[in-house]
Amino acid sequence: MEWFKVDIELPEDDFVEQIKVNGKKLCLIKYEQKIYVIQNTCPHAGGILSGGWCKEGNIVCPIHRYEYSLTTGRGAPGQGDYIDIYPTEQREDGLYVGLKESWWKRIF
Ligand code: FES
Repeated sequence: MEWFKVDIELPEDDFVEQIKVNGKKLCLIKYEQKIYVIQNTCPHAGGILSGGWCKEGNIVCPIHRYEYSLTTGRGAPGQGDYIDIYPTEQREDGLYVGLKESWWKRIF
């Protein structure tokens, strides 16, 4: 696992926003005072989750309104899919996101 600092000032209020971490587009969410980082692309048909909104602990995709849990990544009952949730750490100098080391990097 490699940790990357997220270059962003966290607003007071809840928000959903696209961020770029180590060249990868992710979705940063503040919901009920907690921070989540999830994949930015919806597994259903490629909608952009950072264009969505949060409802009852789920991110709602703006395209067909599929919902995914912010804590487990699981899709709502009947969907049978899931999203990736990335670990976060609030450190003295800011917010960090943990990404798995790429397969290529491990080899070389
Ligand atoms: S693309 Fe996200 S619900 Fe269909």
